Amino acid sequence: MDKQAAWETLKQQAVGHFGPGTVFGEGPLDARLTIVGEAPGQQEVEAERPFVGRAGRLLDQVLEAAGIDRADIYVTNTVKVRPTIEKDGRLKNRPPRAGEIRAGLEVLLPELRLVAPPVLVLLGNVPAKALINRAFTMGSDRSVWSESVLGTPAIATYHPAYLVRLRGTDFERTRELVVSDLVAAWERARDAADGD
Ligand code: URA
Repeated sequence: MDKQAAWETLKQQAVGHFGPGTVFGEGPLDARLTIVGEAPGQQEVEAERPFVGRAGRLLDQVLEAAGIDRADIYVTNTVKVRPTIEKDGRLKNRPPRAGEIRAGLEVLLPELRLVAPPVLVLLGNVPAKALINRAFTMGSDRSVWSESVLGTPAIATYHPAYLVRLRGTDFERTRELVVSDLVAAWERARDAADGD
């Protein structure tokens, strides 16, 4: 089976397992860089695409600032369905539970093995704890290269949903850190591709 067919099969298996609200990864299957987020939100479920809502628009902006075209990278999530909680009669996002992360990893790991990017960027604690180390903390381990559980070099940075909540100089400073982590990842990915 070729790579595209294997990817379609994996996606169909994920939809079969998690149901109609499943949001699978997207992007070129030979991407030099893969970005892994946490879990889809409402807009992602509606569009059936990762990172298309508010956090997604911010992700697009920081990628552009880092000189990375989103069309050149693969983007996916740790958890494939939206974790929700009902509040005042409305469904809100909530952090994924350990069991949901484990279930997501059963799809994410084969997905990443298939795409096999030379470099991973992990947005926020959920993918960083799942793919680097459960003891990961953003305060001390952000921007540090680690070997992921797949053996692929990985760098973790702040999640755009965190950035969205910041204001003024906090926002500017944190945004710059994210951009510089993305630049470092893109350079490493380019070096890996040049070494092919
Ligand atoms: N946050 C994520 O982690 N992933 C998405 O796809 C959207 C928001």
